[in-house]
Amino acid sequence: MTVVSFKNVSKSFGARQVLTDITFDVPQGQVVSLIGPSGAGKSTLLRCVNQLDRHTSGNISVAGQQISPSCRQRDLMRLRRHVGMVFQSFNLWPHLSAIGNVMEGPMTVLRRPRGQAREQAEALLEQVGLSAHLDKYPGQLSGGQQQRVAIARALAMEPEVMLFDEATSALDPEMVQEVLGVMEKLAGSGMTMLIVTHEMAFARRIGHRVLFMVDGQIVEDEEPASFFASPATERGRAFLSRALPA
Ligand SMILES: Nc1ncnc2c1ncn2[C@@H]1O[C@H](COP(=O)(O)OP(=O)(O)OP(=O)(O)O)[C@@H](O)[C@H]1O
Ligand SMILES: [Mg+2]
Repeated sequence: MTVVSFKNVSKSFGARQVLTDITFDVPQGQVVSLIGPSGAGKSTLLRCVNQLDRHTSGNISVAGQQISPSCRQRDLMRLRRHVGMVFQSFNLWPHLSAIGNVMEGPMTVLRRPRGQAREQAEALLEQVGLSAHLDKYPGQLSGGQQQRVAIARALAMEPEVMLFDEATSALDPEMVQEVLGVMEKLAGSGMTMLIVTHEMAFARRIGHRVLFMVDGQIVEDEEPASFFASPATERGRAFLSRALPA
């Protein structure tokens, strides 16, 4: 089953075109590493998946729902329930504890009873290694711990696909690994994932597939082993020689 499908998708901000004719399908359970130079359009592409950025032409479908450039707010709300997103900045609710952050969406959006939401949140926070910190507030948690709460919070909505936009780039080096570890476990559990990362070793290890973007276009769509060993394009080779200094 295809979870995310882009067909001839383009996106402009005013006169500036930032995505050009993007076409790809992501089957259920596939983990896609999205890489490329700064300004290539990686974040914009991810944000089109949940329509934080609206595309200007082409067809997008997510979990079987067709999203047109002109679709209504109600359709966007429905779409966003199927898509979890984790950003560089954790964006936790500062006035809610870790478990409160994870319970909030299921209770308010999915109308789950409090007891059920709590049970699920405990299980998710255990899954990300935070059982000892359920009642702490974001201000009492490290960056790595906050990001793991953000992942648990996204998972609590039972998304069909998870998007990660440089989820570790705001973290101190010693906290990067704990978040990458959680993402790898999630990938192993069969979650469909689109991951934007500048960590090339991680992109290679976790991805079933690499999409390499330059100037708003997908320039290579390859298996990681093949892309990282010998990119098919000159731009791919140039990018890797900068990203992976010898
Ligand atoms: N809201 C916006 N309005 C106008 N231009 C934008 C907007 N958001 C992004 N852009 C432009 O779109 C292009 C792609 O940006 P995007 O953030 O998607 O790149 P990126 O690949 O994620 O880069 P980075 O690796 O630096 O995060 C850039 O030229 C950027 O300046
Ligand atoms: Mg970006």
